[in-house]
Amino acid sequence: AFTPRVFSGIQPSGDLHLGNYLGAIKRFVPLQQSHHCLYCVVDMHAITVWQEPDDLRRATREVAAAFVAAGVDPKKHIVYNQSRVHQHAELAWVFNCVARMGWMSRMTQWKDKTAGKNAEAESLGLFAYPSLMAADILLYKATHVPVGEDQKQHLELTRDIAQKFNNDFAPSIKVQSLDADYFPITEPVITGPATRVMSLRDGQKKMSKSDPSDQSRILMLDDADAISKKIKRATTDPEPLPSEEAGLKARPEADNLVGIYAALADATKTEVLRQYGGQGWGVFKPALADLAVAKLTPVADEMRRLIADPASIDAFMADGAERASEIAERTMSEVRRIVGF
Ligand code: ADP
Ligand code: NA
Repeated sequence: AFTPRVFSGIQPSGDLHLGNYLGAIKRFVPLQQSHHCLYCVVDMHAITVWQEPDDLRRATREVAAAFVAAGVDPKKHIVYNQSRVHQHAELAWVFNCVARMGWMSRMTQWKDKTAGKNAEAESLGLFAYPSLMAADILLYKATHVPVGEDQKQHLELTRDIAQKFNNDFAPSIKVQSLDADYFPITEPVITGPATRVMSLRDGQKKMSKSDPSDQSRILMLDDADAISKKIKRATTDPEPLPSEEAGLKARPEADNLVGIYAALADATKTEVLRQYGGQGWGVFKPALADLAVAKLTPVADEMRRLIADPASIDAFMADGAERASEIAERTMSEVRRIVGF
């Protein structure tokens, strides 16, 4: 039996947005009560597309600050950046040799990112990204991974890699007197009303760093005025809110705003609709804007306070990397023996 352990990562590849916050970071916090948690700034994932070195360093601290400002405790749990624990890269190489080319080729994120583009222009790292992600998780034998909906397929691949490693090396695992289920089959934790936050301008697209319209996303560091304006200008249909969740089915923009409200209020969509069903956007949007400002600006203020003292961020991250390395080396020394190194 595996000790319940949580791992999740965020790339320091641009400004953090509401999708990152509601789909991932905010959900990291309550898991600290029941699990030992590692929350990682995945800088090695970020460089699968070009990052200016100074921007990468700044964004790495910013993501770590966001974790802590949101309520992650870097003393009880582990906050660090991936590149400081070299075993991530080492295990990823082993997994590159366990995973199959065909598995990677079928990843929809890879297909979407390269659709209509010349694969000559993409890094090999971008293709192999899910193998590094499997290494991030399995290095710590993590049992639970809180992520947004878009990561579901990558987590299935992590399970496939764990399974194939356990099978391929079964005799060697036995010789080493290790548990036959050497790597756990990790559970994705994709729960709550905001696992796929959509663009505020287009209900068909997810909120993302790469959307050219800065009105499409709320940033974690936006001020009250920017948050309110973006919500009030969000695209909607003209109908009032339905009184039940089924009424949101064919209304992606309405569904998105109700989901955001619910996630910010720690409520369900049903509860939100019980309160606002039958109301128009003239009532709901200002209420959502007030709620978003009340919930997000204290986190942003705390982030800014932390960012102003980079040495304190570097200190808790160095401590986190040291504690992560201990667990990582325990796994890696077993894996080296299993593989025959
Ligand atoms: P991004 O997708 O913004 O480049 P990452 O790949 O680093 O960011 O993802 C960090 C976490 O944020 C992941 O758990 C991902 O599923 C989650 N996430 C990203 N975008 C959204 C979104 N629009 N809605 C919900 N969760 C999201
Ligand atoms: Na993502």
